[in-house]
Amino acid sequence: MATAATPYEIVIIGANFAGLGVAHYLIRKTIPELQKLDESKSFHITVVTPNTDMFFKIAAPRVLLNATAIPESKVLRPLSEGLSKYKPEQLTLTQARATGHDAAKRTVTITPVGSEASKDLHYDSLFIATGTTSASPLWTLHADQSLTSTAFKSLHAALPTAKTVYIAGGGAVGLETAGEIATTYPNAKVTLLSGGTSLLPRISPAVGARAESYVKSNSVAELVHNLRVVSSDTSKSPNTVTLSDGSTREVDLCIDATGGKANSQFLQADWLDETGRVLTRDAYFRVKGNGSDDVEGVYVVGDIVAGSNNTAIEVDAMVPTAASAFAVDFARKVIGVSAEPAKSGLLASLFGMFAGKKAGPPSLVEYKPMKDTILVPIGPGGGVGQLMGWKVPSFFVGKLKGQKFLMELVEPALSGDKWPKA
Ligand SMILES: Cc1cc2nc3c(=O)[nH]c(=O)nc-3n(C[C@H](O)[C@H](O)[C@H](O)COP(=O)(O)OP(=O)(O)OC[C@H]3O[C@@H](n4cnc5c(N)ncnc54)[C@H](O)[C@@H]3O)c2cc1C
Ligand SMILES: *[C@@H]1O[C@H](CO)[C@@H](O)[C@H](O)[C@H]1NC(C)=O
Ligand SMILES: *[C@@H]1O[C@H](CO)[C@@H](O)[C@H](O)[C@H]1NC(C)=O
Ligand SMILES: *[C@@H]1O[C@H](CO)[C@@H](O)[C@H](O)[C@H]1NC(C)=O
Repeated sequence: MATAATPYEIVIIGANFAGLGVAHYLIRKTIPELQKLDESKSFHITVVTPNTDMFFKIAAPRVLLNATAIPESKVLRPLSEGLSKYKPEQLTLTQARATGHDAAKRTVTITPVGSEASKDLHYDSLFIATGTTSASPLWTLHADQSLTSTAFKSLHAALPTAKTVYIAGGGAVGLETAGEIATTYPNAKVTLLSGGTSLLPRISPAVGARAESYVKSNSVAELVHNLRVVSSDTSKSPNTVTLSDGSTREVDLCIDATGGKANSQFLQADWLDETGRVLTRDAYFRVKGNGSDDVEGVYVVGDIVAGSNNTAIEVDAMVPTAASAFAVDFARKVIGVSAEPAKSGLLASLFGMFAGKKAGPPSLVEYKPMKDTILVPIGPGGGVGQLMGWKVPSFFVGKLKGQKFLMELVEPALSGDKWPKA
């Protein structure tokens, strides 16, 4: 436990939307508020990620087009740009992968990239924010982040002359990518394999049906259902693609836009659901554990949360909620004040004013994500989507997301300015 000499140690594993968000939120808001409650407490955060950059994945379908549509340097941004303003006694950024975890010892084993030498990192509180990794490095960073850059560059080189492009995956990423390629490279014949019976199966049948008619009426791509890409040899051109019906095709390019796998290999299996994502024990993103091990002060945020729908919109709502659970748990366990409304009285509030302290212990923030909201541009001018369940007209999808791919969100996420201050 923390004393004045040893700060309370918070470890955050993963540093993209969720992990970076938690780091900024704790330093800007949660920690200053806890220090108003007890100024003798000090905190140190260690952020562990194999990557040096934040990746604004959302814009990947446009970044892959060519070197200028949205330059790679605008979506791959050094984490240090956002985090180096914090003092070393507040935060340390450690370039390593979590490779193991011991709940009883309260340690995470970390292994630096390109090294065998692992070490154990002690935590008082732990935030798991490791998200997912897609097979193709176009959509998520891999441990070696240069793979993402290489993948962009190889598409930049191949797309201008590609005549046949297969895109595997009928979710938002595959659909957006089909729209982008069809618009910029009208000479390419784009085939979109949904892999199932409809587009956007995880969103809603209504939006999926609108997407299908958009693709057909605007001749974006040839849409094929019920056929999956089983494997593709992209080592030589043309690519040989093997399909689930046993047939093979030669295509100039095959792009894998199927979903990612949860990054939870470093955790014990009895913490995870059947998709490998981390189970929670309440609506505040406290980790469930296996029922008998030590999960006090352990939280999970982002796409790695069991039941998450893998959206940044959810991440934005999870960060304040999980941080509030940490604050409540810390106040109870370490400072000894409960989350119940404090017994107020004239004396207490006078004392609070006198001491310049904010009255009252921290309280839980309810998780309230913006529901049923998604925008799927299909090319720069239009697309499909819904806002809180309401249909968004095509031109409005273009205005809200298709024109700039939400690039205005990069800077505030990196700097932390999107989050409130205490
Ligand atoms: C093309 C595309 C378009 C999208 N468009 C939208 C959109 O319009 N709206 C929306 O709301 N959402 C959108 N999303 C979803 C959104 O990007 C995700 O919800 C968000 O990135 C999740 O953030 P995360 O931090 O939880 O996970 P991730 O972004 O997956 O980040 C996880 C981080 O953890 C690190 N990590 C992994 N394993 C380890 C380990 N063992 N040890 C340490 N670190 C590790 C990774 O390197 C990475 O930095 C889109 C996603 C994609 C791919
Ligand atoms: C790159 O793609 C964008 C988006 O379609 C387009 O406007 C631009 O002309 C392209 N640039 C080059 C050099 O091909
Ligand atoms: C839970 O995990 C711990 C290891 O952290 C193990 O010792 C314990 O036996 C497990 N309990 C159950 C019920 O499986
Ligand atoms: C995912 O979406 C479903 C259906 O809208 C919703 O019930 C669930 O709460 C969402 N998950 C999260 C973590 O928000």
